[in-house]
Amino acid sequence: MLDHEQVVIHTGRRSRLPVIVAVHSTALGPAAGGLRLWHYPHWRDGLTDALRLSAAMTAKFAVAGLPSGGGKAVVALPEGMELDAVRRRDVLHDVADVIASLGGVYATGPDVGTSPDDMASIGETTPHVFCRPAHLGGSGDSSPHTARGALAALRAVNRRLYGTSSLSGRALAVVGLGRVGADLARLLAAEGAALTVTDIDPDKQKIGDELGAVWRSPDEILAADVDIVVPAALGSTLTRRTAAELRCRAVVGPANNQLATPDVADLLHQRSIVWVPDYVASAGGVINAVSIELHHVSAGEARARVRAIEETVDDLLDTAQRHGQNPAQAASELVRRRLRVTSDPTSAPPMSLRLRAAGPDDAETRHC
Ligand code: PHE
Repeated sequence: MLDHEQVVIHTGRRSRLPVIVAVHSTALGPAAGGLRLWHYPHWRDGLTDALRLSAAMTAKFAVAGLPSGGGKAVVALPEGMELDAVRRRDVLHDVADVIASLGGVYATGPDVGTSPDDMASIGETTPHVFCRPAHLGGSGDSSPHTARGALAALRAVNRRLYGTSSLSGRALAVVGLGRVGADLARLLAAEGAALTVTDIDPDKQKIGDELGAVWRSPDEILAADVDIVVPAALGSTLTRRTAAELRCRAVVGPANNQLATPDVADLLHQRSIVWVPDYVASAGGVINAVSIELHHVSAGEARARVRAIEETVDDLLDTAQRHGQNPAQAASELVRRRLRVTSDPTSAPPMSLRLRAAGPDDAETRHC
């Protein structure tokens, strides 16, 4: 059964490439979610990605307590296709056409393969776009904020496991040194964490060297003898097999789609490995963008909202422990509860009014 409100698949007029926009839910507000411009063996694989990622955006906003819905856009590039500047603009304008045709139901932002400059190109056609460069009125790159949000989640877990939110001296394995992963690795190194890193691109070893990190190959790193594994690469790092090999006490990171299948969360729980759901730990970027561009809060207030991921994770782990659940179950119950509350017309006030007003059954709402 399709549990998305709508999915548009459109052959771009200029690029002839498949443009996919999945709107999972607008129950909490108009949908937002990044544009992934990436290579797929077949465009249907891009569709699968868009369906999963847009559902994760719904959960991301619900847990963050923000009045936005979940969506995602994917342009599925055939393997090996490189876009020159002209073709790239064509693709972005094709995406902008689809977004414009949705009339505000979905707004896009950067994601894997896209940048604030790409958002500027989309913004030439439609206003429904986040993270344009600051001189064009946007909130700019979301990656540093996603990294800071993941750091906040790591602090909460570190405190629970080791009694301190400081990551100084903690052994962490960062899997993936893309924009977010590299930012996060820098923050962790600055705090004095002992880093092991990897990336599928061997050139990224330079970043590891700068940070004094140990380099491991992508297939070795999950079994590294570290305290916490930090997924920051393209999805589905955790399979039943890799989860069985982990030697860490927690897995917390900014990557989307970390689990190959949902049952891996149970396996991690059985092994007493704390897993913070990806849609909780990766919310910093959207929290910052939506807070500044939709709610017009100051940069300082937006940062505070990102930092509040620490309390959100704290509450989630508490709730999970109280109910004998794993964190993934506790998080999805919270998502269901928040979606149910707003889709039930008798249960006003709407989400936007409840941002800081916690009800007895929903104490986590206050976190932004
Ligand atoms: N890449 C972001 C995410 O997965 C998407 C995004 C960022 C959307 C900023 C809007 C604004 O959360």
